[in-house]
Amino acid sequence: MRKTSVTTISTEDTFDQARRLAAQLKPGDVVALCGGVGAGKTVFVKGLAAALGIMDPIASATFTIVEEYPGTLPLIHADLYRLNSVVEAVDVGLEELMSTTAGIVVVEWADKAPELFPTGTVWVSIAIQSDGSRRITQFRTCNGETQ
Ligand SMILES: Nc1ncnc2c1ncn2[C@@H]1O[C@H](COP(=O)(O)OP(=O)(O)OP(=O)(O)O)[C@@H](O)[C@H]1O
Ligand SMILES: [Mg+2]
Repeated sequence: MRKTSVTTISTEDTFDQARRLAAQLKPGDVVALCGGVGAGKTVFVKGLAAALGIMDPIASATFTIVEEYPGTLPLIHADLYRLNSVVEAVDVGLEELMSTTAGIVVVEWADKAPELFPTGTVWVSIAIQSDGSRRITQFRTCNGETQ
């Protein structure tokens, strides 16, 4: 996967970007989402979920930290917003989850614990532009380099 950047001008647009990414994912993949409050990380998770045929509504994982949804591949949705340290992320079993899952793990606020993410993680950052559009940049890490 090459590093790509796109600008989305609507919620649906961001949702569709996630659907497009989902088509490139394989079992065990990890998607690390970065971006400020209201950037569209949860919208992106909903797009991934739709592509995996998940009917259940995607709830905020802010308080539960980790939620799992059955789909064509299971989707594990985590949100690190409330965590204060990498140690806490380890405590909720995130590292373990990412190394053992047969599904897709998607993590909001991944930049709170970047060192936990395995090589091969797909990093997606969403930045709100001054005109309200979103700049979405994504790449997969490979031995510390982008590919
Ligand atoms: N281009 C866009 N892409 C994504 N969301 C957009 C866009 N334009 C407007 N929005 C709106 O911005 C909001 C994004 O909310 P969302 O919950 O996905 O953000 P978040 O990054 O998950 O925030 P949080 O850090 O609180 O979890 C939604 O209300 C969505 O409709
Ligand atoms: Mg969110």
